[in-house]
Amino acid sequence: MNTELLAAKASQVETDCLVLVALDHGEKDKPSAKLANSEATFTRAVAEIIDAGELSGKLLETTMLYRPEGTKAKRVLIVGGGSAKKFTPNELRKATGAAVRYLKPKGIRSLAVALPENVDFKAENAVRAVIIGALVGDFDPDTYKSDRKDQSIQSIAILATESPDKSQLEAVLSEGRVIGESQNFTRELVNEPANRMTPTMMAERARKMASEVGLGCEIFGPEDIKRMKMGAFWSVAQGSDEPPALIVLKYEPKDAPSQPHLGLVGKGITFDTGGISIKPADGMEKMKYDMAGGATMIGVMRAIALLKPKVRVTMIVCASENMPSGKAQKPGDVQVAMSGKSIEIINTDAEGRLVLADGLCYARQLGCTHLVDAATLTGACVVALGMVNAGIFVNDDAMYDRFKKALHQGGEKMWRLPLDDEYREQIRSNIADIMNTGGRYAGAVTAAMFLKEFVEDKPWIHLDIAGTAWVEENKPFIAKGPSGIAVRSLIEFVRGFAWPA
Ligand code: BES
Ligand code: MN
Ligand code: ZN
Repeated sequence: MNTELLAAKASQVETDCLVLVALDHGEKDKPSAKLANSEATFTRAVAEIIDAGELSGKLLETTMLYRPEGTKAKRVLIVGGGSAKKFTPNELRKATGAAVRYLKPKGIRSLAVALPENVDFKAENAVRAVIIGALVGDFDPDTYKSDRKDQSIQSIAILATESPDKSQLEAVLSEGRVIGESQNFTRELVNEPANRMTPTMMAERARKMASEVGLGCEIFGPEDIKRMKMGAFWSVAQGSDEPPALIVLKYEPKDAPSQPHLGLVGKGITFDTGGISIKPADGMEKMKYDMAGGATMIGVMRAIALLKPKVRVTMIVCASENMPSGKAQKPGDVQVAMSGKSIEIINTDAEGRLVLADGLCYARQLGCTHLVDAATLTGACVVALGMVNAGIFVNDDAMYDRFKKALHQGGEKMWRLPLDDEYREQIRSNIADIMNTGGRYAGAVTAAMFLKEFVEDKPWIHLDIAGTAWVEENKPFIAKGPSGIAVRSLIEFVRGFAWPA
């Protein structure tokens, strides 16, 4: 997608489609929608539609006009931004996404978006929201359809007439591009079926990206994993004919201090059958997205390499299949993790925490001072929070405060769940230090408690994205399929640690 900033008046822009935002000003007993653009041409063009009650400014509502008088655009698409009082860059991002998704199937390949006037946020934030919304909206998961109709938007112009500082807007435009494209990179990886995204292929995708953006990359195979005594990781991988891969990406900016050193750890189960504790056939196809946590971290590293914050970041993705076979681990087996802790395997389907245990331990060995992991870890998290919020677990309130700020900047939804010591009881084993499941209750918490054993004293955040990594229905601003959840917030979180330039 080509992007450009134009300092032109909306009515004067020649484009296939001009996109304007309408807001609801909430007046009682009369139509209260108004365009967030003051040119008389447009006000005149929509007056009758507003009076008829057909244009209300409701969030994501779309109204198309053809060649309204006095404008150079072939079409004008008006997207609702919702209540004027509650209008933030988040609504603008979604509205832009909705515009893109409305225009794409009509074969429209280029558009111009006029930044809304008289709103409570800066033009910079508006430009970032528009470009991210457009890129996210542009993604479709129909990779393998032979009649791929839904081609991409080719160019988007952002019309910013009010802002004095064009170079600053250019900077946020390219920053927004990096963020949106990185989120889509993650979505591409997650979208691939398991036969096209084996651990080896996932590692190759990471390696290729790393070489394009200038990240350090090391990939370890089965022999290395055994040599490093990653017994928990290996116990999951041993049942599969596909070799596992330990993917390590390193971002080491020259003049950054050695601390803090962030460790991003991702669950990369490229297919989760459950292993010997096999899952039911119904819906098992979805378990191709069990590598979403890993793909999230790979996408974040791409963005970090391009945005260049001054902070050291090391990423570790434990990629493996979880398969039943004659070599697979069995319920009752005892494994010894890299940290030396022994684990009684109760259910081989609780494999994510096993691979992460060694990933987190390895991150500490590499000198990471702060840890974050992302994983499609538990069905229980989906039961608790549905598809709206991802789960956040934190062992350090200062980390949580930082992350909350990043969440807000990224415009993503997550909710904190507890990690009280009392839950530890549920994962106590008779035969080993710990067991890999905690029974019927609080399953998302006991999974997080398991991980906590392996982060020891390091400040740590665990994101359970099981319910949010896949969008179950088409939405006006995002396609059904991989969501790329957590990519934007994690990018902001990492940047929040950057040393002042
Ligand atoms: N990958 C699943 C969790 C999951 C469930 C992801 C639904 C996405 C959607 C995970 O490996 C798993 O199977 N967890 C088990 C744990 C249980 C056996 C303790 C679960 O949640 O049922
Ligand atoms: Mn599982
Ligand atoms: Zn899993």
